[in-house]
Amino acid sequence: MKKDGKIKVVLIMAMTLDGKIARHSLEPVDWTGRTDKGIFVEITKGAGVVIMGSKTYDTIGRPLPGRKNVVMTSSKDRQSNHENLIFTSASPEDILKGLADEGFESAVLMGGTTINDLFAPKGLIHEIYITVVPKLFGQGLSIFSRKLDAALELMEFQKIDDHALLLKYKVLP
Ligand SMILES: NC(=O)c1ccc[n+]([C@@H]2O[C@H](COP(=O)([O-])OP(=O)(O)OC[C@H]3O[C@@H](n4cnc5c(N)ncnc54)[C@H](OP(=O)(O)O)[C@@H]3O)[C@@H](O)[C@H]2O)c1
Repeated sequence: MKKDGKIKVVLIMAMTLDGKIARHSLEPVDWTGRTDKGIFVEITKGAGVVIMGSKTYDTIGRPLPGRKNVVMTSSKDRQSNHENLIFTSASPEDILKGLADEGFESAVLMGGTTINDLFAPKGLIHEIYITVVPKLFGQGLSIFSRKLDAALELMEFQKIDDHALLLKYKVLP
């Protein structure tokens, strides 16, 4: 929990060296390597909850086990058949308040671009962890797609395998 009593939000993304997170909206994240996946699982299980957009969820096709999955959708028709999955049309602020009330101290925001765009301009992202994957897509989706003016501070960097880096940044208030 942050000092102001709010839940800490960590955005975790894998990115190509040319700054892309996917070639298109329906592409699964199956290109980042085993080490990145392992780190993602460890951090998200530590937080206990992940927040994602419905398109990202559809590329995975099932809830991530061992974590609460909060999937943002504007559709009222989507029903969950899993105890660790909810579909919601609530605002980012209301989702985070609900998670704080449930006792979560931090949450992982895991994309995609559309959902990241809902959180970032409101200053709701506190840390950003990026795996830089040794690939180039040329075209595709970026981490954000709207105008932003945020300053970051490097907290930590790590070479996670022969060719990939993990960068951890704090978003300055
Ligand atoms: N490289 C990485 O680390 C990484 C991580 C995550 C995702 N990705 C990639 O990103 C791509 C998907 O990103 P995306 O931007 O196309 O989609 P997205 O952000 O995953 O999901 C967009 C969906 O979120 C819902 N949504 C949008 N605004 C909303 C609001 N205000 N309230 C509630 N729900 C709202 C809508 O769902 P409805 O249409 O159901 O209403 C919308 O279609 C995929 O290719 C995925 O693999 C990459």
